[in-house]
Amino acid sequence: MSAYLEMEWAVSPVDGAEALLLKTAGACAAAEGITLPVYAHVKITDDGEIQAVNREYRNIDRATDVLSFPAVPCRPDKTLGQRQKRLLQERDETGRCFLGDIVISLPRAQDQAREYGHSLERELAYLTAHALFHLMGYDHIEPQDKGRMRAMEEKALGQAGVNRVTDEELIALAKEAMEFSYSPYSHYRVGAALLSRDGRVFKGCNIENASYGVTNCAERTALFKAVSEGAREFVCIAIAAEKSAPWPCGVCRQALNEFAPDIRVIVAWGDQRAEATLPELLPHGFGPASGMLDILGKE
Ligand code: THU
Repeated sequence: MSAYLEMEWAVSPVDGAEALLLKTAGACAAAEGITLPVYAHVKITDDGEIQAVNREYRNIDRATDVLSFPAVPCRPDKTLGQRQKRLLQERDETGRCFLGDIVISLPRAQDQAREYGHSLERELAYLTAHALFHLMGYDHIEPQDKGRMRAMEEKALGQAGVNRVTDEELIALAKEAMEFSYSPYSHYRVGAALLSRDGRVFKGCNIENASYGVTNCAERTALFKAVSEGAREFVCIAIAAEKSAPWPCGVCRQALNEFAPDIRVIVAWGDQRAEATLPELLPHGFGPASGMLDILGKE
């Protein structure tokens, strides 16, 4: 494993968390394509200490869930995976490269785990992955950057086996959704399973109509169900059909782009599967990041 974490617990350690965080760190470095051994220092503490750190180093006098302090200065145009020559120069006497410091509030992680309905271990792994990607040069100020960072987090958490839903499970759910396809005109049955950032999965099928143009694709059925239930951030969609690859149509690509410009798209048919990211399927897409909201906001 090419990534290591120096763990420091200022609160009582959470059983089993360290092994998971180490695995997560390895998956983050692998997702970023970093081949040199890297490490970070992780301190897990209480709200009081994270507030003091936030005040001292960022002039923000309040507690937060996670803070990260990069040791290798970030560049706006490139993440560390694209700067491995620079990383080589950063190696210490042990041959490893220090990425920086991470501080996590355990009470915040506990609250968020409850809020998202998943385990404390998963939340700690998510916060660690989030902080590690910050240390590797990612940020989430612009919507596009946020999507890119989320996609990397999701990929790494998936590889570390931390996700509540694996790709295989999501595909199985898409196949399940396909069973409800209403397609008496095309007989092309499609099912979709859309995974939201908070771990919920929304299923949808294609719903045809005697007036053909009224037909709704499986992806948009799932997306509209999700948004109407309050989900706004999505990390992956699996789409299943029977005999050919159900790559989403142009309309569905555009619909997904509104909420999840960097979503992973997995297609499954028979026993085959393929995957791509939305930017690959919809290059130069037009969406909220294109300035529509700014223009409308000014009116
Ligand atoms: N279909 C989908 O459900 N998703 C797509 O992205 C492509 C097409 C459905 C619509 C219609 O019911 C059938 O496939 C044939 O076009």
